[in-house]
Amino acid sequence: MTTLLSGRALTRRFPSPAARPFGPKRWTTALDDADIDVREGTALGIIGESGSGKSTLIRLLLGLDAPTSGTVSFDGAPVDARARARELHWLRRQTGIVFQDPYASLDPRMSVGRIIAEPLWALGIEGDRRARVREVLGDVGLDADMADRFPHEFSGGQRQRIALARALVHRPRLLVGDEPLSALDVTVRAQILDLLRELRATRQLTLVLVSHDIGVVQNLCDDVVVMKDGRIVEEGPTEKVLLEPQVAYTRRLLASIPTITPRSPS
Ligand SMILES: Nc1ncnc2c1ncn2[C@@H]1O[C@H](COP(=O)(O)OP(=O)(O)O)[C@@H](O)[C@H]1O
Ligand SMILES: [Mg+2]
Repeated sequence: MTTLLSGRALTRRFPSPAARPFGPKRWTTALDDADIDVREGTALGIIGESGSGKSTLIRLLLGLDAPTSGTVSFDGAPVDARARARELHWLRRQTGIVFQDPYASLDPRMSVGRIIAEPLWALGIEGDRRARVREVLGDVGLDADMADRFPHEFSGGQRQRIALARALVHRPRLLVGDEPLSALDVTVRAQILDLLRELRATRQLTLVLVSHDIGVVQNLCDDVVVMKDGRIVEEGPTEKVLLEPQVAYTRRLLASIPTITPRSPS
């Protein structure tokens, strides 16, 4: 199977406030020498405690931020946020992202149709944009007529469907979710999880999913990486990592998350 997306030796440091005025500058290492591969057609889960570098990693992988060092490649071609505009444009064309909070991520002043069509404009995709929007609304289980309404008219689950429609309208090969289900109620979460599974199959998407919810990872992801302090501390097939974690940190992390179905050792 071909590797669609990969990161090599990815490191990202951020300046943090000096301990005292005029004191030496300090740095936070958000991501520390991470290697990652996402095979085409698979779903990769990323888990780890808050602050472990998950969002930083996906931002680098999508070219939304530049690594301090290391490289990202998509479909074999190197790209990162320092890449030329044309390469970044190409990366954006092939990727879509959904964030955690469907209340913060949708511009309240824009109609749903405009919100969803925005990537088509930004990426210079021509053709019948209205038709594309209506079609993708159907794909995420919403009415085509909803295009004329505004975000405040919708529930959290519906808003996350709108966010998904925007992430998919340009037909990317890779969909990335940064805790896309975490802000939703349990029943709504299950519905959006089903939708992700369905979209993954019908659109033959490759998925990268940051999640706090081990049930979601178990349900959707073929492989999983575990992050701690900016490093990938464990990775492998989901079943293996979740059922036979090799690292004490992973065992603690799994134990601290209540949603995993306990299994007796066999
Ligand atoms: N833009 C930024 N400026 C300064 N520090 C940041 C920035 N983004 C992330 N960090 C720091 O990097 C670390 C990893 O953050 P993040 O990738 O958001 O973790 P996670 O998504 O796993 O919660 C944290 O210590 C965070 O405070
Ligand atoms: Mg995060």
